[in-house]
Amino acid sequence: MVSFTAIVATALALIPSAITAPSGLGQLDYNSVHKSLDTRQGYPWQWWTEGQGQFSCQQQGGGKYSCTWNGQAGGGMVAGTGWGAGRKTVRYQGQYNPKGPGYLSLYGWTRNPLIEYYIVESWDVLAPGEPWTLRGNFTSDGGNYAFYTAQRVNKPSIEGTRTFTQYFSVRNEAEKQVGAVSGTINTANHFDAWSRMGYRLGNFEQNMFMVTEAFANGTKLPSGTSTITVS
Ligand SMILES: *[C@@H]1O[C@H](CO)[C@@H](O)[C@H](O)[C@H]1NC(C)=O
Ligand SMILES: *[C@@H]1O[C@H](CO)[C@@H](O)[C@H](O)[C@H]1NC(C)=O
Repeated sequence: MVSFTAIVATALALIPSAITAPSGLGQLDYNSVHKSLDTRQGYPWQWWTEGQGQFSCQQQGGGKYSCTWNGQAGGGMVAGTGWGAGRKTVRYQGQYNPKGPGYLSLYGWTRNPLIEYYIVESWDVLAPGEPWTLRGNFTSDGGNYAFYTAQRVNKPSIEGTRTFTQYFSVRNEAEKQVGAVSGTINTANHFDAWSRMGYRLGNFEQNMFMVTEAFANGTKLPSGTSTITVS
């Protein structure tokens, strides 16, 4: 998703914020920022950044995390709670107040085929890096979703620089919540819907994550706050 060089450079710039983080909160594991994209899928937290900006996230225990971000041109971050990937019912609730490009989404990877998958629950601006192709619509847990795919060509992946497909379930715009958010995601409903439309997954990486992702797209810069608890 982001280059390793960019991750290391920004991670070093971020270390001072760890020192000033409120006491009593779990500190983010800065070691995990330095690991490869592949290795990071085994951590119980996602946390990485790219480019310039102020990105601050704390893990608070019990599946809860909070973030504040203010990205400059080219700047972005992904942070969130992880747990074993697969067919599961996941609940999330909290506050999500984004400006600019980014998502509140469930996120993970499979191999054979190599797929990066997202279940996008909320956003301010959807500005994907590659064009999305609508493959169909389905319902899950009382929500309406569109299913899109996108092709990433020679981009960072869990297998290094590769060409691979992204799957996106995207909640109907009219149902999206901003501010107070809560929801239930039965991942099996999504995986089965994708498969019915001809898009199967491969072997799951160890964890999937409920993340706050924010990124700059040209002059559209991301900022915002989120506090999300996953159970
Ligand atoms: C920005 O968003 C537009 C529209 O979705 C897209 O065409 C473009 O590729 C994006 N650029 C970057 C750098 O993500
Ligand atoms: C599928 O979802 C997209 C995006 O929300 C929407 O534009 C489209 O009208 C939907 N199609 C159907 C058949 O519901």
